[in-house]
Amino acid sequence: MPDLLLFLRGLHLVCLASLLGALVLPLAVASGAGTACAAVRPLARASLGGAVITLLLWLLAQTAAFVDADPGDWGKIAVALPAVVTQTRFGHILMLRLALLLTAQPMLGRGRAAWTFAAVAAAAAFALQAEIGHAGAAGGSIGTELQASEALHLIAAGAWLGGLLPLVRLQFVLPQADAIAAARRFAWIGVPAVLVLIATALVQGEVLIGGVGGLFGSAYGRTALVKIGLFAALIAIALLNRFVLVVRAGAGLSVSIGAEALLGAAVLFAAAALAGDEPGAHVEPLWPFPLRPSLAALAEPELRGEILIGAAFCALGALAVAAGLAWRRGRWPLLGVGTVTLWLAAPHLEPLLVEAYPTSYFVSPTGFSAASILRGQQIYGAHCAPCHGVDGRGDGPRAASLPVPPTDLTAKHLREQSDGELFWWLTHGIDSPEGGLSMPGFADSLSEDDRWAVIDFIRANNARLAGITPPLQATLSGANGHHHR
Ligand code: HEC
Repeated sequence: MPDLLLFLRGLHLVCLASLLGALVLPLAVASGAGTACAAVRPLARASLGGAVITLLLWLLAQTAAFVDADPGDWGKIAVALPAVVTQTRFGHILMLRLALLLTAQPMLGRGRAAWTFAAVAAAAAFALQAEIGHAGAAGGSIGTELQASEALHLIAAGAWLGGLLPLVRLQFVLPQADAIAAARRFAWIGVPAVLVLIATALVQGEVLIGGVGGLFGSAYGRTALVKIGLFAALIAIALLNRFVLVVRAGAGLSVSIGAEALLGAAVLFAAAALAGDEPGAHVEPLWPFPLRPSLAALAEPELRGEILIGAAFCALGALAVAAGLAWRRGRWPLLGVGTVTLWLAAPHLEPLLVEAYPTSYFVSPTGFSAASILRGQQIYGAHCAPCHGVDGRGDGPRAASLPVPPTDLTAKHLREQSDGELFWWLTHGIDSPEGGLSMPGFADSLSEDDRWAVIDFIRANNARLAGITPPLQATLSGANGHHHR
């Protein structure tokens, strides 16, 4: 059932994008708009019909999912349908979209003004998707910002990707000079669309994916990666079309634009899949690599110079490669010099990668609350102080008898370790170079919450020792005193 829902949602998005693209294309790229409109009208009609049909099917499938009906249990679905349509946000949005589509339908044969009106209605119908997905579910000002950016994202994607198939059609119908001019002018849609897509994706990515940890560590993030990969392939084909094939003006252009359209449909399906996944920012991401990026090394004066010079040479190398790709005559020397420069410079960036663990990007669920810090202090006193010392300086009573001395937990390097990494060591212990564990793990003796509480205490203790905050006890009694007064 989830697969059917995903499929219908994807197909519906493809129809809507195709409708929007077919309506926008003649307005934006064809000088003889009349002929162009006539040429893409059948495609627009078919897309609109497809959008209405998939909308109704999606509504039925979603209703079945809402009431947990078995496939084919039409009675149960029919009974639930009116409530879904009238009482759920999903139902309201779909009905609004249906109304917009049905208003646009008769406008397709009535001249330029009506056509423009239909394009606006199609854009609104598509943008409504932002109201149903994760953005629609997020409340508050973040929710509003997300919805606005998703709506823009959808319109840009629809106008660009949906315009590709109609553009192929124009290649066959228009006189060759006009067809080529249209393909060239498609950049008027493509370039702004790509810029909007990237900018809005950054907003979405930050809030929904949960940064680099969520991108690689959650199912949502990995679907997003697939989408990003497809998007990069799309841009590559678009550049090929615009700078190579348009100039040659052969049948290759239509084939290539057609391939771009297919890839575009794949991107829309990936987007539909994302709408069904739990956002990466809402789950604890499991980091899949042994290393992770970290800017901590930039704070070390001895490393900073090397890294910055390495980065500058990497940038030069990349520039040389790009120039080599773009400029035919200097191609091979530039590619050679660029590759060698990259090859030599890249190792100097190595300090930007640090050891990582599956839990590296876990975020403490405690919210760093005073209660959690206080609890952590008690646990620390009982479980950690014997080795690490009361203040964490590595000088507890048991320290002298250990083969590997306990780490000074107040040392500067600890600040560069993520909470999730401390959590990993507390859970699994720390491997000793001689084999076995140099520090025991606490998976059995401390609950997860207790382990997070101890981490909160270590952070608070270090802030206190660094003079950033007054002693914990004083803060707490001070705050309490204030309340009592
Ligand atoms: C039996 C003694 C012992 C106890 C008990 C102990 N540790 Fe350790 N701890 C060590 C030793 C030894 C190391 C150094 C391991 C190494 O470097 O191989 C260490 C390392 C660490 C590190 C790694 C710091 C870094 O950046 O390398 C952290 C964090 C830490 N301990 C926290 C704790 C906390 C929190 C507790 C209490 C829940 C605790 N330890 C209990 C012995 C102990």
